[in-house]
Amino acid sequence: MINPAQYSMWNSGVPRPYLKALAPEDMLTEAEGVRVRDAGGRWYLDGRSGLWNTTLGYSNQRVKEAIKNQIDRLPFANSYGYGRPAEVTHECANALVAQLPDGIDWIRFASNGAQAVETAVQLSRFLRLRHGHPERSAVFAMWDGFHGQGPGAGMVTGVSYLHHHTGPMLPGIHHAPGPFSSPNADGVSEMERAISEFGPERVTAVIVEPIIGEGGHILSNEYLGSLARFCRAHDIHLIFDEIVTGMGRVGAFTRAEQIPEVTPDIITLGKGITSGYVPMSAVAIHDRLYQQLHDNTTGEFALSVGSTNDGHAVAAAAALAVIDVLTKDGVLENVRQRSADLVTGLGKLQARHPEITAIRCQGLMCGLEFGDEDGAPWAPSAANKLRLALESRGVLSSSLRVAPNLMLMPPLVVTEADVAEIVEALDGAITDVKAGRHPESGFAKAMG
Ligand SMILES: Cc1ncc(COP(=O)(O)O)c(C=O)c1O
Repeated sequence: MINPAQYSMWNSGVPRPYLKALAPEDMLTEAEGVRVRDAGGRWYLDGRSGLWNTTLGYSNQRVKEAIKNQIDRLPFANSYGYGRPAEVTHECANALVAQLPDGIDWIRFASNGAQAVETAVQLSRFLRLRHGHPERSAVFAMWDGFHGQGPGAGMVTGVSYLHHHTGPMLPGIHHAPGPFSSPNADGVSEMERAISEFGPERVTAVIVEPIIGEGGHILSNEYLGSLARFCRAHDIHLIFDEIVTGMGRVGAFTRAEQIPEVTPDIITLGKGITSGYVPMSAVAIHDRLYQQLHDNTTGEFALSVGSTNDGHAVAAAAALAVIDVLTKDGVLENVRQRSADLVTGLGKLQARHPEITAIRCQGLMCGLEFGDEDGAPWAPSAANKLRLALESRGVLSSSLRVAPNLMLMPPLVVTEADVAEIVEALDGAITDVKAGRHPESGFAKAMG
């Protein structure tokens, strides 16, 4: 077993006491179905699907076989520049576009979500330069939206401390409040208002998560429909970041599919694209953008983006298998049914625990908000205590930095019994927190 004094790895974003408090037995060592086991021998129902990505659970034989076979046949081929990509990478792109809204016909693979977001921004800006509009470079995103970290994607993410704690970041990124933080009565969204005031002719793209991961706020069809019409009227590219909502999470292949009146120009995908078995992400673009990428005089394709492992053969084989499982094994139907079970179960819980002040579920993406009896929202630390209490009752979930929220993001293959187990454990955990009972592990104490 590892000696805690010798930990060489560090996790970003957490204070040092957290790392010191991690006991060797807290590390995860194995998984089966939708459950993970730590080195101390405890099993947990993974109600947060790893980092919201292990959508088919940990034991999908088709995905595992596809990975093993690909490693045997051709573990790598170069998808960059003049390289010769793997056959399986092309097959995967074709299978993916077949599931995306009409017109979203072209795929650029990347290796993680932040890179996909940055590629989308670069692509949008590149098209403006190519077509003689260098003044159109601003990108608008939403406060509290999450689009990854790093000097590019971290700037697009609407969490202000990320913009300042490492010095200069990608310029030309602006943020506006979402409808959940600033509902307005006059029918004009804050985003549209902010862009109008800034000057739409200077804006190249708007990027939104159709459901905000930080809290599960569902942007309504009306809101997104209005934003899409606004973007179209002002020739602004609309980017849907579906890194969380895509690949079946919401009970359809993408959230875009559930809003027929809106077709984004660009969709980013990641997380569940390989069900977390290997890293991969993708940028899917509408044909009208793809056609503009070509230089009309030389036919050259000059946008240079990419990284060594983009479109990796093993990841493509995994993604191809994931698409097959999602579309043929009734997984999307399971998401819709288990979502209904979860909503019913959480509704009953809310009747007993009025501290649950909001339940927002779309498919198996569920945000819960908590508050005191007088309506004051819980501090994020209270939501964190709840997450730890839930963990000590055998269910993993996510608590969030910016709001007093708990996110339940179970694998898409959970059963009715799994959902009942999550609800029962949450019942106990809320009771624990209300009674001031805290989990005993050093790990929990460091966080509490
Ligand atoms: C909506 C969204 N976009 C982008 C990202 C960044 O993805 P990655 O962590 O793979 O870089 C995330 C990560 O959580 C996300 O939730």
